[in-house]
Amino acid sequence: MKIHSHTPAGDASIGERRVPGLDAAWSLRPCQPHDRTAIQDLLRRAKLPHDGLEAFFNSTFVLAQAGTDIIGSVGIEVYGRYGLVRSLAVAPEWQGMAIGRALLQDRLAWAKSRGLIAVFLLTLESDYFARFDFKRVARDSVPPEVRRSAEFSSICPETATVMALPMNYSDEDLRNGVRAKYAAIASEVKDRSTNEGNKTRASCCQPSSCGASENPITSGLYSDDELADVPDDAALASLGCGNPTALAALQPGDVVLDLGSGGGIDVILSARRVAPGGKAYGLDMTDEMLDIARQNQKQAGITNAEFLKGHIEDIPLADGAVDVVISNCVINLSTDKRKTLSEALRVLKPGGRFAVSDIVSTGPVPESVRRDAELWAGCLAGSLEEGEYRRLLQEVGFEEIDIKPTRIYDAANFCGGDANADTKESGKTNSITGLFMGAFVEARKPNR
Ligand SMILES: C[S@@+](CC[C@H](N)C(=O)[O-])C[C@H]1O[C@@H](n2cnc3c(N)ncnc32)[C@H](O)[C@@H]1O
Repeated sequence: MKIHSHTPAGDASIGERRVPGLDAAWSLRPCQPHDRTAIQDLLRRAKLPHDGLEAFFNSTFVLAQAGTDIIGSVGIEVYGRYGLVRSLAVAPEWQGMAIGRALLQDRLAWAKSRGLIAVFLLTLESDYFARFDFKRVARDSVPPEVRRSAEFSSICPETATVMALPMNYSDEDLRNGVRAKYAAIASEVKDRSTNEGNKTRASCCQPSSCGASENPITSGLYSDDELADVPDDAALASLGCGNPTALAALQPGDVVLDLGSGGGIDVILSARRVAPGGKAYGLDMTDEMLDIARQNQKQAGITNAEFLKGHIEDIPLADGAVDVVISNCVINLSTDKRKTLSEALRVLKPGGRFAVSDIVSTGPVPESVRRDAELWAGCLAGSLEEGEYRRLLQEVGFEEIDIKPTRIYDAANFCGGDANADTKESGKTNSITGLFMGAFVEARKPNR
């Protein structure tokens, strides 16, 4: 495959752009099935193969268009959690205007938004892609699902250079990924709740690529009595990994704060336990989850609870406002855990308790897993190692720290019998085998 080399011309903005010497502007747009002939034409002129591309024309290709002319194209074929860049081409008369750069950057941003782990390509012009941080890799190191693609197995010459770009996710990317995931789950819960025939629990805290088998993390956490005490929709939206309300020994009159309250199950249960005289706050950053929680509160007839919008790293409550901080499978999602823990300490009264269910790792989590956006949003990649959890709690000022396992997970749990072949082959299950447990984390704010 020959990829055209373009000289980047300044800032590669995506969208309208005047082109000197050519009385036209170009912009990027998604590819449509009717573009097929124009793309084939462009690729033929660029001497690039166009076999087997049709299947990807709808969703994963973008085009550069000037007037009515298609002047550039690029696509990313998706294989499991990996992408393969194809057909980066710019019409000869439009080269040197950073159109190739804009096309490629658009697709790399898209690959990130999809949570892909890495993208690959085959090229005869590796210098061009080196500018975008693609590195040469051995053919053998390419995941089998990508190697089976037509491009790898038959279209490109053996002499083509294989290059890879791992997707590095920033803290902001990770947080946006978390919000998007839980917003989507909240919508799914709403749909299920209105569909009487399908009142099954939402599946979270495990990679979505692992299928929808009984969730080993979120299932069976609450007793029948507790579930009878909350609206069906609160149980449907329950996404925790423990039952902090049961373990926290809440007393009537306590003020409780639930960090990352989701659909509100623990806030409702806490509100009942601290009545009379007490109050339960829920804090969440996702509007869609807050909507569900407030509806559940109304349905449960709870008046001593309040749901707040905000980040657990910046709690919108005054110093010393609460007796107990609880949380259920959320601190692992925080991209700044020290800040989260010191905020928890700040809002506690002297002598106040931290009583949190969370996923904790039993050993070092490999860097490749750490920066995997999907495993992060699924509560695994961001989990603290037990010793690190203790150290951070102590450093921010907690004492009487205790971490007890409540559930030990193994790889079969995470990606059970119905795990798809891509997940298994990509080695993801291997890298998380035996590494995570559900735990109850307790600590106290000093009484002075
Ligand atoms: C795994 S769910 C747990 C929900 C709830 N605790 C439960 O047990 O059902 C994670 C929730 O935490 C929220 N969340 C994640 N990171 C957050 C952050 N940094 N600040 C506030 N909320 C956050 C998400 O919006 C989501 O509702």
